[in-house]
Amino acid sequence: MREDKTLEWIVEPLLQWYGKKARELPWRVDVQPYRVWISEIMLQQTRVEAVIPYYNRFMKAFPHIKDLADAEEEKVLKLWEGLGYYSRARNLKKSAEIICDKYNGEFPKEYKEIIQLPGIGKYTAGAISSIAFGMPYAAVDGNVLRVISRICELDSDIGDEKFRNEVKEQLERIYPHSHCSQFTQSLMELGAMVCIPNGVPKCKECPLNNGCKTFENSSWDKYPVKKQKIKRKKINKTVLLLYCNGKIAVQKKQGEGLLAGLYEFPNIDIGMNDAEIQKWLNDKGVEMIQIQKYKKVKHIFTHLEWDMCCYKVECRADTESYEWFSAEELQNEIPLPTAFRKCL
Ligand code: ADE
Ligand code: SF4
Repeated sequence: MREDKTLEWIVEPLLQWYGKKARELPWRVDVQPYRVWISEIMLQQTRVEAVIPYYNRFMKAFPHIKDLADAEEEKVLKLWEGLGYYSRARNLKKSAEIICDKYNGEFPKEYKEIIQLPGIGKYTAGAISSIAFGMPYAAVDGNVLRVISRICELDSDIGDEKFRNEVKEQLERIYPHSHCSQFTQSLMELGAMVCIPNGVPKCKECPLNNGCKTFENSSWDKYPVKKQKIKRKKINKTVLLLYCNGKIAVQKKQGEGLLAGLYEFPNIDIGMNDAEIQKWLNDKGVEMIQIQKYKKVKHIFTHLEWDMCCYKVECRADTESYEWFSAEELQNEIPLPTAFRKCL
């Protein structure tokens, strides 16, 4: 970015516009650090409309930091089910525990302290510091990068960490110290509602259109610049729905990797035929009565794609190698990630 050209001019029109047009969202009424934190973590990979019901349920279950710190991890994960990226939920709980132990249950006020908490990076620390504490820290996410790239016709890759830091610094130079919360949110809001990610930006109704290079040159489709992502690795999986006396077998995934701590159906990272499945089950001490190919399910993660072939398997006994639950228990009590829920 050019150092000599300041973005100062965007501040007033953005604040004016935000004052008139901001959506009323649950975390914008009754603004508290804890509430802002939860909303920003949920909003990281998920759209506002999808987040709202999760947010309201979460706040009802855990109204204060202490409630979250004292909660069973499994209950937190259950409330997170469907949002994905479950490490976010685990880190929320860890951070809540730290806040209770180290800060006496009060959310820390200093950016330097906030950014030390698990799961909180520059974006979230900036969002909490500005929105909840009124401090002049920017929160640079995809929305903000798109808006700034378009206004200035910047050709840098928005995935580039150095560029993101430059945008953060540029913005922090122009933060209006008496309206930090509104300024952060006005940038996000413009990116979400006007300078939108998919499709034509609504430049006619944009408060920044009289200084925006992209508007002047009708070049919105060239910005922001995003380098092609690496291709997702594909994994063929065999997923087994083991039934016995109306119950279904699951197991808790151990370790630290993808979906650890959540439940899963027995699954193998290769395609298998009926005979191979029978042998695999025998090795686990499971006696199969009948097997039926059920359906194919695809699930996409950030870096992976699972192509799952699901089988229904009737079993002789509910062996101890697994935990067995009714469909109702699976629905209401067990944190089962969407990838596996789709197999039912
Ligand atoms: N996206 C990320 N943070 C947001 C917020 N506070 N309001 C609306 N959209 C957002
Ligand atoms: Fe985005 Fe158009 Fe506004 Fe420029 S004028 S910031 S391209 S919506």
